[in-house]
Amino acid sequence: MIMLCRRLPRHTASTEHPMPSSRRGLLLLLLAMVASLSTVVIRSRDSPFTTMEAYPPPIVALAALVGERLTAPRAWLLLLLPVPILVARYSFGAKRARKMRPQQADDRLPPSPPALPVLGHLHLVGSLPHVSLRNLARKHGHDLMLLRLGAMPVVIVSSPAAAQAVLRTHDHVFASRPHSLVAEIVLYGPSDVGFAPHGEYWRQARKLVTTHLLTVKKVQSLRHAREEEVSTVMAKIGEAAGAGAVVDVGDLLGSFTNDLACRGVMGKTSSRNEGLRKLFRQLVVDTSPLLGGFHVEEFFPFLARFGVLSRVVRAKSERLRRRWDELLDRLIDNHESKHEAMAAASDPKEEDDDFIHVLLSVRQEYGLTREHTKAILLDVFFGGIDTAATVLENTVIELMKEPRVMKKLQAEVRSIVPKGQEIVSEADLNGMAYLRAVIKESLRLRNVTPLLAPHFSMASCSVDGVVVPAGVRVLINVWAIGRDPRFWEDAEEFVPERFLNGGSAADVGFKGNDFQFLPFSAGRRQCPGMNFGIAAMEVMLANLVHRFDWEMPAGKETRDIDMSEEFGLVMHRKEKLLLVPKLRV
Ligand code: HEM
Repeated sequence: MIMLCRRLPRHTASTEHPMPSSRRGLLLLLLAMVASLSTVVIRSRDSPFTTMEAYPPPIVALAALVGERLTAPRAWLLLLLPVPILVARYSFGAKRARKMRPQQADDRLPPSPPALPVLGHLHLVGSLPHVSLRNLARKHGHDLMLLRLGAMPVVIVSSPAAAQAVLRTHDHVFASRPHSLVAEIVLYGPSDVGFAPHGEYWRQARKLVTTHLLTVKKVQSLRHAREEEVSTVMAKIGEAAGAGAVVDVGDLLGSFTNDLACRGVMGKTSSRNEGLRKLFRQLVVDTSPLLGGFHVEEFFPFLARFGVLSRVVRAKSERLRRRWDELLDRLIDNHESKHEAMAAASDPKEEDDDFIHVLLSVRQEYGLTREHTKAILLDVFFGGIDTAATVLENTVIELMKEPRVMKKLQAEVRSIVPKGQEIVSEADLNGMAYLRAVIKESLRLRNVTPLLAPHFSMASCSVDGVVVPAGVRVLINVWAIGRDPRFWEDAEEFVPERFLNGGSAADVGFKGNDFQFLPFSAGRRQCPGMNFGIAAMEVMLANLVHRFDWEMPAGKETRDIDMSEEFGLVMHRKEKLLLVPKLRV
């Protein structure tokens, strides 16, 4: 990364912001750190700090991007560790930076807000980076801006036009991913689709996934699996309703999408094993924060020379990989013996279309190794479980807060499903335009992947009169774009009607052609699991509102639902969503 930064052209006079002189900057930085430390000292006398909000902003920013919850000793460590290194580094770095003059006089970088030395803009990014980045873009009026988070240059995209430039016009330049140590270890290289850098391997793996695993036909063939899994959830909710008990809605939805992923990956027979499904769920829960978090040495690469932090991350990742290996190898071995027996008997049976089986049958054609196979399977778990479950949970919350919308949705679903039919089938969904509008509105207002996955520029590229250099992360703030009043009427309101015929966004879809609405992104890296996710969400939401009315637990009101969230590749609410189901009378 240091190499890449060195290649960055410097700002020209027209875009350069006044920077403090090297000494003043260093002094400022030390003052900021002393202030931060004293805040920790003063506060830690009163409380043991278990949440990130209690920390001063620079720590919160680091923590959010590191993806860790901080305890007080960790906060001290994070702050103290870099100080002497930063001081030495900064005094040498400032001299060297002065020597780095523009490589091409006409390279005009995207504009940047004023930055601190060493930290760059890191201190401006809070625990919800998509919110801080939206505020920064608004304050300075930059729809495309260049930030420096520590030593890492990052371009932030905050308008439909800029998103279109990155995801369509110059897609071929921005379709790579930055290196991630965790992905390298847990995802075998990475050899999956989501984290693999752009190149021939990624192209082939993505082709395999889109033509064999996540096709429309495959999504349709899993229809009965979805209906069965939905019935299981409805039975659990029915029991709770009978007993007047509270249900943990997030947990139910997480199990549903996990079990669906298990069904797709290993087929009906293996996925009946509850222990196995729980093992998958636990592993996904343990791996996601590490995979979604950034890690501190990416911001301060010179710390990598000491290797302490990366050793910790590496050790954690290797432990996780061993656990995944054990589980996936066992499953693939089982499938392999079945696959061979079936091939010998030339007698394809009902289990021949689960994802493991499909991958085994194309392994020669695509030259897949065992590790490639495991990595590609892992994408189904990391791409499909948290995303769909969180969208559903957010939708339920919005419906609880907007009883008008809830009633209208229930009326639509209840009027279409024949009387006496307990479970809404996928065939019933056809006429449910309002249900679709509700899901779209939830994807807009409560986007669960607010910055998409990081893109990475493979070459320097001119975008709207500025130059984005090679080797830069590009974060597309689709959350901000989705609630920007320049492009949406009543942008902060939950109004599904906007997506209905005659509504202000009636023609806006999520397939990647409307750059003000990008829940699944657009271009080469667009989500290949879109149909898979939508099918699961539609049938589940219809069933949740069909047989049940939902109430808050005794003594609670909808305004008590705690909306605070934790940042990650997929956003999570911190608190459980507990609701009481009532059987419809
Ligand atoms: C509501 C559900 C879902 C949402 C909101 C969602 C959203 C996204 C987003 C925003 C990206 C990143 C695109 C980019 O970086 O430009 C992505 C990528 C991806 N998603 Fe999804 N996703 C969902 C469901 C699924 C499902 C069910 C699967 C698989 C079964 C899946 C598999 C993937 C994969 C493999 C990628 C990486 C594509 C690439 O890098 O080439 N997703 N998804």
